[in-house]
Amino acid sequence: MNFLYWHGPQPQLVFTQPELIKEILMNDKEGAFPKTKVQGFMEKFLGQGLATSQGEEWFKKRMLANHAFHAESLKVYMKNFDCCNILRKTHDESESDELQQGVRASIMKILKKREENVKTEELDSYGSDFLGKLLKAYHSKDETKKISLDDMIDECKTFYIAGHETTTNLLSWTILLLATHTDWQDRGRKEVLELSCQQIPSPDSISRLKTRSMIINESLRLYSPTALSRKTNKEVKLGKLLVPANIEILIPILAVHHDPKIWGEDAHLFKPERFAEGVAKATNNNMSAYLPFGLGPRTCMGMKP
Ligand code: HEM
Repeated sequence: MNFLYWHGPQPQLVFTQPELIKEILMNDKEGAFPKTKVQGFMEKFLGQGLATSQGEEWFKKRMLANHAFHAESLKVYMKNFDCCNILRKTHDESESDELQQGVRASIMKILKKREENVKTEELDSYGSDFLGKLLKAYHSKDETKKISLDDMIDECKTFYIAGHETTTNLLSWTILLLATHTDWQDRGRKEVLELSCQQIPSPDSISRLKTRSMIINESLRLYSPTALSRKTNKEVKLGKLLVPANIEILIPILAVHHDPKIWGEDAHLFKPERFAEGVAKATNNNMSAYLPFGLGPRTCMGMKP
């Protein structure tokens, strides 16, 4: 189903057909479908991090994150940093300056602490996690690798915000689903106990938990935390449509994940067994039918490989 609606004065096209979604997210060789720009207080809050930048700038940041990123690296600053309560206080423009400064000061404190640790403990590196890589790039003498202080702060904000709300959302829905489907809760628990012999599972053993993967995949299908948005920067042909420039495009992941034509008449039900033989089998090799982490070059950085 594709349709047009007006968001105030801004026309928005909504696409839920997997073939068109693939064209927009994966086969966009000419860069006709860039991400929509964040505006207003969200622009102040997010800055120009990986998720919001475009073109060369995005490529440089993506390379840095690809090189450094693994889930463990977030632990270092996640525990120190609580910006979300400040975010909820207000949407008012004037107060957003104060908010921006508060968040910046929080991040600076974490960055300084890491720099101090290197000085006082006479370490020869800022660390191998993402924060360490960002600091290394900030202090680099090589202009092609160097990033500015603002870049570094925006990247910390991006990873915190992109990673926190999505994961919280996923975990909350999963707990609710397991509480209402106790047969799956029992199966999941049994699998964990069998594999880890009552100990806390290690990252390696977690990746072997097949029932857990099925439950998480199904939870992300039913309650995907995000939607995707793009815009057209020129007139472009999409399927049978000729879409003018400057149209916003919205891809409601939830609608795709609940489409009975793809998932069957029981699309609205929690049935982790759909994923018993993996995502490819569940979608009949239709990769744009299941996109909780997006698709194409801008796929989520937090997605497990
Ligand atoms: C259940 C958890 C998560 C979900 C469902 C999720 C979903 C997504 C989606 C759909 C996108 C693509 C956005 C687009 O194409 O417009 C995305 C991008 C991104 N995600 Fe996640 N995400 C999750 C967790 C995380 C975590 C834990 C991190 C960080 C550690 C993270 C960092 C990012 C970043 C940096 C991008 C932008 C990538 C780029 O533009 O190159 N996400 N995420």
